[in-house]
Amino acid sequence: MEEQTDKVFIKNISIVLTILVVLTISIAFISREIGFEQEQDNNPSRNLISEERIKAVAGAYTNETEVAPSAAPVTSAAPEKTLAFDGSLDSEIIYASVCATCHATGVAGAPKPGSPEMTQRSEKGLDALMQTALNGLNAMPARGGRADLSDEQVRAVVEYMLR
Ligand code: HEC
Repeated sequence: MEEQTDKVFIKNISIVLTILVVLTISIAFISREIGFEQEQDNNPSRNLISEERIKAVAGAYTNETEVAPSAAPVTSAAPEKTLAFDGSLDSEIIYASVCATCHATGVAGAPKPGSPEMTQRSEKGLDALMQTALNGLNAMPARGGRADLSDEQVRAVVEYMLR
């Protein structure tokens, strides 16, 4: 009798254990399948479509002091090229902050304004000097190294240097 009960118990426990093992394996496989499907969801074009779909809502929620994300590209759609010194034609200031580094000291053979060398160079004419000032020559960097200077600004400074 005692033996009989033990046998039944072992049989039952084995069935339960087998069911648990099978269940565990199936869950592992199912979660793998689901995980794989979600990975495929990382498709960039599909994400774009999702973003496009929620855009209207995302832009509408502006219960904050910050600018709505959808409004930002509109205001910065065509950023204007910012000129050096706010586009100022104050040649004295531009010369002092950009060109004087070399031209006031004559470093690397930079002609000093008012020097005989500068006078000699000025004989080439303003157009030739402008070519050098805009495009550079040897140690002279294009636009004095300030690419954000406009042609007008460079011309104003070259004229200032010839005074
Ligand atoms: C890094 C130093 C440096 C800076 C900054 C610099 N220059 Fe020069 N510049 C030179 C040198 C060196 C020369 C002589 C180049 C040569 O003839 O080999 C020169 C020559 C020139 C000449 C004479 C060009 C010619 O054809 O003879 C002009 C004009 C001139 N620079 C204008 C400017 C202006 C305007 C600026 C500021 C916007 C400026 N430079 C900033 C170094 C500099």
